[in-house]
Amino acid sequence: MNSRNQAVFSNARATGFVRINRASWIDTLRVVAAVMVPTAAKGVIIRRPIMERLAQRQDLDTGAVRQMQRLVKKYGRAPLLLPIPFRPQLLVLDPADVSTVLECSPQPFATATWEKRAALAHFEPKNVLISPASRRAELRPIHEHALASADRLHPSSARFKTIVDSELLEILDGIGSGGPNELDWSAFSLAWFRIVRRTVLGDRARNDVTLTKTLNDLRSRANWAFAASIDRHKLRQFQQQLGQYLRQPEEGSLIGRLPKGSDFDLESQVAQWLFAFDAGGIAVFRTLALLACHPSYWAKAVDEVKDPELERPFTRNCLLEALRLWPTTPVILRELTEDIRSGDRTVARGTGVIIFAPFFHRDPELAYANRMEPSIWGPNDTLPTVGFVPFSAGAAICPAHNLVPAIASFAIGALLSQADITLLQPSLTVGDLPGTLNHFDIRLRLSRQRVGAGAPHAAAGFPPH
Ligand code: HEM
Repeated sequence: MNSRNQAVFSNARATGFVRINRASWIDTLRVVAAVMVPTAAKGVIIRRPIMERLAQRQDLDTGAVRQMQRLVKKYGRAPLLLPIPFRPQLLVLDPADVSTVLECSPQPFATATWEKRAALAHFEPKNVLISPASRRAELRPIHEHALASADRLHPSSARFKTIVDSELLEILDGIGSGGPNELDWSAFSLAWFRIVRRTVLGDRARNDVTLTKTLNDLRSRANWAFAASIDRHKLRQFQQQLGQYLRQPEEGSLIGRLPKGSDFDLESQVAQWLFAFDAGGIAVFRTLALLACHPSYWAKAVDEVKDPELERPFTRNCLLEALRLWPTTPVILRELTEDIRSGDRTVARGTGVIIFAPFFHRDPELAYANRMEPSIWGPNDTLPTVGFVPFSAGAAICPAHNLVPAIASFAIGALLSQADITLLQPSLTVGDLPGTLNHFDIRLRLSRQRVGAGAPHAAAGFPPH
């Protein structure tokens, strides 16, 4: 055991790895049925509308959290070994262990798990997330540089804001000129993916819907992971399409900040960006739905838009709340790179580690578990010691953890400063927000207004904040 791992284990001992419990077969089955199957069925790589609808109707996410709480009552907070045949998993149940696992990635808690490799191989086989530690050390810095991970505002922020404003203005213009004043996910996502292509690849990619469609086809297969064969023809086609942009990167785009040359499998790195921005759009749309029924938060967010400062900490925190309430990465997976001993139990190298974020984000002991409370984030975007990890934490934290909230706050500001927004569907009770919010079925009514005027109309049945 090297000194690094020695430290990990003493750290682990201090935070609860001193003990590892083993779940009974029946409890293991319950976790598989109530937590793992619904999460996978909703679509881990691309959401399936039918399953999201079902999850919302059956309140499956609340059921999953309840199941996890039952386990804590029965076994305590120590990591719980689920003896799943051929694929045992350690379930993390203590926020302190969330911190340990994420801080100690990629060794001994590797990010490149068997499940992730099987899924991501369909569209980004050489991505940093599924690379061994030595390759990760080479790839991670290029993501951090291109996405300006350490900076609250990306150097191209002003350009990104112009892109966001112009694309969303088209939606608003439609309303002004007598177009439909309802905004649903399909209309919003068309504009959002234009923003994504221009931001990532440059203006000339604006209308390249074929690229997005090809990626989405690959993502749909990726939902099936090892159960579907890789469509190598389509993967090659996607990489060729992307290659055209990578060979002549537009200045000011995200790919314009990548190193030149073929050493970094850039197609695989950028595929993750295009894929992950989908989650950003989902989170923006849910934040709009939240703000539409929280007039006081709405007013604060509108105030921020009036300020010429590009950084918008309050709107940013609203987005983080949407991600806490409905995490777009509900499971963070790791894999042990070596055996862990705990008492007389040895957990073998290769065992999976599961952090199920909703369990921590919606802990019923928190007064604000099921309501929106932007203040909890302060200046942070990850709070691993309490288990709030929408962007993960530690060395493998999402390298866009600053970029996403910034672009999202531009999008939220562009819409709510210009229009009254009413949430038409679903009906939300602000004091008791649901476990699932199916973004495919969110419908907003936009009514154009003077810049900065007024607050949203709470539709009948939505209690004001
Ligand atoms: C709402 C939006 C997003 C959320 C909630 C999010 C969340 C996450 C999380 C939780 C991880 C860690 C996964 C793991 O450890 O298994 C991750 C990794 C990553 N994300 Fe994001 N992400 C978002 C958007 C983006 C965007 C837009 C980009 C790029 C433009 C991006 C780039 C990456 C990359 C490259 C990784 C892999 C990092 C590594 O393994 O070192 N993400 N993201």
